[in-house]
Amino acid sequence: MQISPSILSADFANLQSELDRIANADWAHVDVMDGHFVPNLTLGLPVVEALAKVSPIPLDCHLMIDDPDRWAPMYAEAGASSVTFHIEAASDPRALARTLRQAGARAGMAIKPGTAFAPYEDLLSDLDMVLVMTVEPGFGGQSFMADQMPKVAQVREAVQRMGGETWVQVDGGVSATTIEQCADAGADVFVAGSAVYGAEDAAAAVDELRALALGHAH
Ligand code: DX5
Ligand code: ZN
Repeated sequence: MQISPSILSADFANLQSELDRIANADWAHVDVMDGHFVPNLTLGLPVVEALAKVSPIPLDCHLMIDDPDRWAPMYAEAGASSVTFHIEAASDPRALARTLRQAGARAGMAIKPGTAFAPYEDLLSDLDMVLVMTVEPGFGGQSFMADQMPKVAQVREAVQRMGGETWVQVDGGVSATTIEQCADAGADVFVAGSAVYGAEDAAAAVDELRALALGHAH
């Protein structure tokens, strides 16, 4: 059970100290948005490269961008330990996942709430993580979509059936009140932005979330 706080809800003027606040987390989730794949615009390669140099924990980059086939490998080269592209934007997801692994990163595939998982099941052997979005990508602080839990269970079931070790991540509206149902459905990596950075003690929020998830481990 791993916690990946999203720095989207952090103070962008002080990212290094904001990373230090969550040094007890497993990953730092970095939301890259290009203003095209999603309406919002956040940060890109130069910032990820700078964060990778100072972060006490590995970077989990979530790319909400067009043309990930072209751009995603550069995030691995910039120092991200995990790079997740959106299946809706990828032209050759299998080749991209392989390229990410060759570049030394874990390869992740994200699916939006309206996208079914079944057509992509055969990609699992080339994936280290599947990210099931529990909000429409684009903004932090949105309400959790419990109707995505059957998809989480479906991904978990496929991973088990294929005997793989692919992680199942949830992202969007994950908090102390919603994390247990995610764990019950089969998620094992939990992204939380506002629930962590909105707390006075971010590290304590990370510990609380992890304990809740562990209480519902399979
Ligand atoms: C949404 C991002 C999420 C977001 C999560 O597009 O991918 O990572 O920051 O924020 P919360 O936890 O506040 O929903
Ligand atoms: Zn994200």
